[in-house]
Amino acid sequence: MITETVIPAPPKEMIDSEKLRADFPILHQKVHGHPLIYFDNAATSQKPRAVLDALRNYYERDNANVHRGIHELSNRATTAFEAARARAAHFINARSADEIVFTRGTTEGINLIAHSWGGRNLKAGDKILLTEMEHHSNIVPWQLLAERTGAKLVYLPVTGDEGLLDLTRLDSVLTREVKLFAMVHISNSLGTVNPVAELCERARRLGVVTLVDAAQSAGHCPVDVRQIGCDFLAFSGHKICGPTGIGALYGRRELLEAMPPWQGGGEMILSVDFYKTSYKHAPHRFEAGTPDISGPIGLHAAMDFLDGIGRENIFRHDQDLAAYAYDQLSRLNEVRLFGPKTGRAGLVSFLLKDVHAHDVVTVADQWGVALRGGHHCTQPLMRKLGVESTARASFYFYNTKNEVDRFVEVVGEIQKFFAR
Ligand SMILES: Cc1ncc(COP(=O)(O)O)c(C=O)c1O
Repeated sequence: MITETVIPAPPKEMIDSEKLRADFPILHQKVHGHPLIYFDNAATSQKPRAVLDALRNYYERDNANVHRGIHELSNRATTAFEAARARAAHFINARSADEIVFTRGTTEGINLIAHSWGGRNLKAGDKILLTEMEHHSNIVPWQLLAERTGAKLVYLPVTGDEGLLDLTRLDSVLTREVKLFAMVHISNSLGTVNPVAELCERARRLGVVTLVDAAQSAGHCPVDVRQIGCDFLAFSGHKICGPTGIGALYGRRELLEAMPPWQGGGEMILSVDFYKTSYKHAPHRFEAGTPDISGPIGLHAAMDFLDGIGRENIFRHDQDLAAYAYDQLSRLNEVRLFGPKTGRAGLVSFLLKDVHAHDVVTVADQWGVALRGGHHCTQPLMRKLGVESTARASFYFYNTKNEVDRFVEVVGEIQKFFAR
């Protein structure tokens, strides 16, 4: 009997990167005489025209201070500002816009929680659980809090170069003394995608409050705070095609409402007396002073842009590029690769034997390839891995397989150059 061979259809191209690139004026330039290949997206992403236009339109037509005026421009600015809050809530599936505090970014969001929630709820002997792959912005605020309160830091270990959380150790570190578990969703140094929903579920069973650092995930994959089940989640606008200087902090409403302000000033008050002040409800209680107004408006445009592409599609595209880059780099001699072999997010960290990561980045730049070299604000992780730094290529939906081919060719050239 002859069986018919079924040839699987080629995977559908979910993202047309070439077409999307047209929306990013900055990508169409030469650097040191070579077409720019921008692989530093984990540090900050580029901005589409839609975001640039939103900022320009705001300043050309609507610029005024928010929440205070009763004139037309102030009303327009306030409406746009609060619409961006509602959009941010929808972006991460929060229950209400009142669960979104605008911040300067992930770092400020985490600092806010450490000051306000931590200051009120932690005492000597309590523990704060972190993972060994945290960015400094999810370590230092907790160290400052520990110094103020006498609380202690505990870490869930990372397995080694493969960069996974050692979940066999979870029970020994997630104990009843832990009051807060703060974890990164996607590691900026390793590309690891952590099982945050599972970790939050385990924490919740012990009544431990959870915070997710979504700096590398919010714009790269679907992020749903209800599905994750976290209490707090922070992300930065500039890493998701939005402007610098704006970010959002999600907090579960009951927790936000019970937290004291962390900065005082205009905008966050109900009434001020010479000796006593009463505060607005969350989230306004946490936004003292004139906020960044154009930032949320630009962020709104960025979130619309990303959801127009679809974050599942972006994730698949980033993952495909990273898997391809990982595979191509692993074919070169004497390359040390960091992070999981499979299931990695859209970045690859690597070291070439006898070449400093900064030298890799400096020479790559001469070929028009923008990489990042250093400790990536994860010095404790680097020490654990026994290195000072790595070189990192990080991708987004506007990057292409051809660019990865060119990047790998350049890495090969760098090896030849330093072997001389
Ligand atoms: C995982 C992670 N967390 C936090 C941050 C801090 O973000 P920001 O500097 O935008 O506050 C970064 C930035 O690189 C990051 O990659």
